Amino acid sequence: MSVAVIIPAGGSGERLGAKIPKALVHIGGRTLIEHAVANMSPVADLVIVAAPKGLESKFQELLGSEVVIVTGGMSRTESVNAALSQLPKDCKYVLVHDAARPLASTDLARRVIKELDAGVLAVIPGLKVSDTIKRITIDGFVKKTPNRSKLRAAQTPQGFTRETLIAAHNLESDATDDAALVEELDIPVKVILGEERALKITTPDDLDRAERYLLGSGSKSFRVGTGSDAHAFSSDPTRVLSLAGLEWPGEIGVDGHSDGDVAAHAICDALLSAAQCGDLGSNFGTSRPEYAGASGAKLLQETRAIVERAGYSIVNVAVQIVGNRPKIGPRRQEAIDALSSALGGVAVSVSATTTDGLGFTGEGKGLSAIATALITRH
Ligand code: CTP
Ligand code: MG
Repeated sequence: MSVAVIIPAGGSGERLGAKIPKALVHIGGRTLIEHAVANMSPVADLVIVAAPKGLESKFQELLGSEVVIVTGGMSRTESVNAALSQLPKDCKYVLVHDAARPLASTDLARRVIKELDAGVLAVIPGLKVSDTIKRITIDGFVKKTPNRSKLRAAQTPQGFTRETLIAAHNLESDATDDAALVEELDIPVKVILGEERALKITTPDDLDRAERYLLGSGSKSFRVGTGSDAHAFSSDPTRVLSLAGLEWPGEIGVDGHSDGDVAAHAICDALLSAAQCGDLGSNFGTSRPEYAGASGAKLLQETRAIVERAGYSIVNVAVQIVGNRPKIGPRRQEAIDALSSALGGVAVSVSATTTDGLGFTGEGKGLSAIATALITRH
C-alpha cells in the first residue's frame, strides 16, 4: 500500500445553510463528496471518508464498498483522527483532503505525491492572497500587517508521510488543517502551487463559483433529453393512482404495465434519451416481466443507474403533469422530494397544467406528462 487518502466530510455545513450536510450538497449533478472521491481515487490505494454521525450507511451506499467509511467527530481534527484509526500499517503516504474542496484535481494530488517521493515529509498546496491580511487584537484593532507576498492561502489535499501525520495528530491539538499540527512538531512543510478550482465551499456563493468551474471546463459534455407519457384512467375503481412518486388516495388510478406513474415515466424517458440509452420500452418493456407493476421510484432508480453506467451524472430534471386532477399544488413539495430522492437527491421541478377541456386530458379521460432532463459527463 502506497497512498491512502483521508477525506473528512463529517461537518454540518452551517455557513452554507443547506438543510443537509455540506458533503451531500450537489454541484454539476453529483454530491461534493462524490466529486472529491472521484478526483482523489486515481492516486489512492485506499480512500477513507469520515461521515457525519448517523449517515455512515448513506455515504457507503453513495461511494461504494471500496471506500472505507468512519464516523466523523465533533471537529475536523477529530474526524481525521477517526479516519487515522483505519489507516493500514503498510501505507507510506497519507493525503488529507476536504470534502469541501470537491474540484481539487487529480493532477494536484499527483503533484503533492511527487514532492513526498522527492523526500519532503509534509507538503501543502497554497495560493497567493490578493487581499492584504491583517493580524488583529481581540478587541478588533490591527496588530500587524504581514507582508502579503509572503502569505499563502492553504488548500488540500495536504500530503504527509504516514509517521509525520500520526505524530502530528498524537499532539492532541486542534487545528483547521493538518499542516498546522505538523508545524507544531517543527517539521518543515513545503508549499506547492495550489489551484483556483480547489476552492473551499463555505457559503452559497462558493457553490455558484464551483458550478461555474464545472460548466467552464466541460460545457461540451452537457446533454439534454425529453420524454413524455400518457395513461388512461382505469375502469377499475380499486386501482390506486401513482403519480410523481406518490400514491394519491381517493383518486382513480390509471391502467399500465407498471404503476402508470406518467411523471416518473416521462422523466425516465427524458434521462434515457439524453444519455442515448433507448427509452422506457427498450429498457423495461413488456419483454421484462420483472418490471410489471414496478413503481415509478423503482424505474427512476434503475434509470439513474443506466445513465450513470453510460458515464453521465444527472444535473436536473423538470416535469410537467397535464390533466384536470389531481391538484398537484398542495403536494408539489412532497412530489419533488419523492422524485428527487429516487434520483439520488438531484434538483427536480414539478409543474402542472390543464388543457382548457381539450384532448383526452381535458376530457378527463387520463393523464399525461412531459419531462426534460439535463445530464453531464462524469
Ligand atoms: N469536517 C469534519 N468533521 C467536523 C467538521 C468538519 O469532517 N466535525 C470536515 C467538513 O466536512 C469539511 C472539512 O472538514 O469537508 C472542512 O470543514 P468546513 O469547510 O468548516 O465544513 P463544515 O464544518 O461542514 O462547515 P461549517 O463550518 O460552515 O459548519
Ligand atoms: Mg467547520
